[in-house]
Amino acid sequence: MTLISQDIETTRLSPYLGAEVTGMDLTDSSPENIAVINELLLEHGVLFFRDSMLDVEEHEALARGFGEPSVFPLSRLMMKPGAEIPFMGEIIDTSDDPPNADGWHTDVTWIPEPPKIALLQAVDVPESGGDTLWADLYTAYESLSQPMQDFFDGLVVNHQVSPVIINAARRRGGAELADLLLEKFPPVQHPLIRTHPETGRKALFIAGEFMICIEGMHEDESQMWLSWLKDYINNPNFHVRWSWTQGDLAIWDERRTNHRALSNHYPSYRHMRRCTVDGDRPYC
Ligand SMILES: [Fe+2]
Repeated sequence: MTLISQDIETTRLSPYLGAEVTGMDLTDSSPENIAVINELLLEHGVLFFRDSMLDVEEHEALARGFGEPSVFPLSRLMMKPGAEIPFMGEIIDTSDDPPNADGWHTDVTWIPEPPKIALLQAVDVPESGGDTLWADLYTAYESLSQPMQDFFDGLVVNHQVSPVIINAARRRGGAELADLLLEKFPPVQHPLIRTHPETGRKALFIAGEFMICIEGMHEDESQMWLSWLKDYINNPNFHVRWSWTQGDLAIWDERRTNHRALSNHYPSYRHMRRCTVDGDRPYC
């Protein structure tokens, strides 16, 4: 346990990734408080705060401390003129609307400037199940042998909106909305090895089903390496796992992590509220 100030303490949850923080006032989005959270975030990658139920306004204010809150591209396409901007994503799993985030990814890598930070509030959680896992992309990179690091360095991956999101668009707005989503968001190129803009450390920038091919490779070569990368991130040595209690809040750095939400609570009800913050173009 590390004492940051008179009141703030952190406890590491794994050697590389994740820490529980106590004594932090999350309704304080002053630059001084945000600077403390950001410093902890850069060190630990994911921060967990128990018993921290923020309302929508407090949640957005905290996100705004880190930059401009993002609007999920599909929500933006569906916005009616003059409507309130939907910064919050309500993730509600029910027996009729099953969970669909059970695969490793980093959020919205299929746009040129993906979000840099996410803030997830547990509003209502099942009795058991529905944990979230994060994987450390620094450790994933550093665990590669030197020849593999050299090989991956400089490779460029095409990212595109996944079938799960295209289907969501189809459910909400028919084939027209699904087609519009694909038209507005063609594949985008990102480096396979990225440099974190604040720490200067390198991370293996992978994003599960959003990765469609490696630039310049033959299809079979590309699929082989993407498959290898999707499997590589399953190594538990890279992971931290959180079992949610109502009122928990997690903040994570999207630039150095993948995450996945388990779906084993289905068909139980689970309600999470998420906000992300706009990021910059990833670079090698
Ligand atoms: Fe996600």
